[in-house]
Amino acid sequence: MQDLNFRESWATRIGFILAASGSAVGLGNIWRFPYMTGEHGGAAFLVIYLVAIILIGYPVMINEVILGRKTNKNPVGAFKALAPNTPWWLVGALGVFTGFVILSYYSVVAGWSLAYIYKVVLSATAAEIDHAEVFVGHITSVWEPIIWQAIFMILTVSIIAAGVVKGIQKWVTILMPAILVLLVILIIRAVTLPGAGEGLAYYLQPNFGDVGPRTFLGAISQAFFTLSLGMGAIITYGSYLREKDEIPGNSASVVGLDTGIAIMAGLAIFPAVFALGFSPDGGPGLVFITLPAVFAEMPLGVLFGLLFFILLSIAALTSAISLLEVVTAWLIDEKGWTRGSAAVTMGIIIFVVGLPTTLGYSVLSDVTFPGLGMDMLDTYDWFANSIFLPLGGLLTAIFVGYIWGARNAVQEGNKNAGLISLGNWWVLLIRYVVPALILVIMIMGIYDTFFG
Ligand code: PHE
Ligand code: NA
Repeated sequence: MQDLNFRESWATRIGFILAASGSAVGLGNIWRFPYMTGEHGGAAFLVIYLVAIILIGYPVMINEVILGRKTNKNPVGAFKALAPNTPWWLVGALGVFTGFVILSYYSVVAGWSLAYIYKVVLSATAAEIDHAEVFVGHITSVWEPIIWQAIFMILTVSIIAAGVVKGIQKWVTILMPAILVLLVILIIRAVTLPGAGEGLAYYLQPNFGDVGPRTFLGAISQAFFTLSLGMGAIITYGSYLREKDEIPGNSASVVGLDTGIAIMAGLAIFPAVFALGFSPDGGPGLVFITLPAVFAEMPLGVLFGLLFFILLSIAALTSAISLLEVVTAWLIDEKGWTRGSAAVTMGIIIFVVGLPTTLGYSVLSDVTFPGLGMDMLDTYDWFANSIFLPLGGLLTAIFVGYIWGARNAVQEGNKNAGLISLGNWWVLLIRYVVPALILVIMIMGIYDTFFG
């Protein structure tokens, strides 16, 4: 018989850092961060994003880890445990729903990455090739991206069906150092390309002239997305953290690693974008067009390209499993499903829900969301990351700050405090700074998006 109250714990202290990093580091750093930066004018966006990470991302990450460890529950169960018989569990439900939406299109982009494992080999060995054409050719060919999307979902479902701890830890120990090394090699190649200076200036010399409400909304959406916040992934992973592990320091490691990898991705991409004559505001295709062009300019480019897209696909996989785990843990804990049937059923539904985003580049290419003017993938991404995640983070901050009580949270967060301990600084951030900033930025940003 299965013990329903049994929950796995991370085997080692480093276990939580690895799993949370596995969730955090993914397409958000290497695919989304560069094109968001490029769409929002470069260095000014980078600065605002970094401020958002410090003032919002870090305190919210601590907030979610605390909720998870305190309650040992999935997001819905966590709110129910601390505020029984109130509607607060709906915040957890919003998170489960958001994870569902994100995974539906995340698996599409992850499918592009899988396909590029061989596409990059072809394009790095071809003498004359238009890298933009290769990318557009891929996403507009109806079946190919769907097949890769399906393969990625099957991989994700298999790992989740097999159980959390087993699935995650070993991957990440190899993955993180390997990604860092490859990024360093890419940066060296990119910054030594003739004409790279312009790209470095674009990425590192801020010009705040064009900053508007949408820049701020873009920056907080990126902060939430890249750190896996606002939808319960970190609550769920926090629920596997042990009593004797310290929270503020572990959270700082995850935030630091994730931010470092994003900054490095930008350093690899922008010099190359300018040196090789691409445009920084190319949108979701930016990385898939620019980096293969860099690999083509490199000794052993085929090998590095191959390795890079393998690593990116694994990074996407460790993030995707955290998305599916939220949905699965909720079905297991709250609805009594078995792990296997929860993972498989949700995997199939999420795959189908994601189909319009793939087809948005082919048969549905004329469809845009009214008022937004975005294609299907950008529309899913916008609602998930500019609305649902910040809203989830805002409501969770209000819940902990005012309903459950910031002092209770500090007490939980400071069990076995290490180098960093929670105090008034965190209470101030979670009660006032985080809610105020999110509220103002969301209202102004949404207004500007639809009516600006
Ligand atoms: N943080 C992941 C990335 O950067 C994406 C993600 C978002 C994962 C939300 C889980 C929850 O790719
Ligand atoms: Na990330």
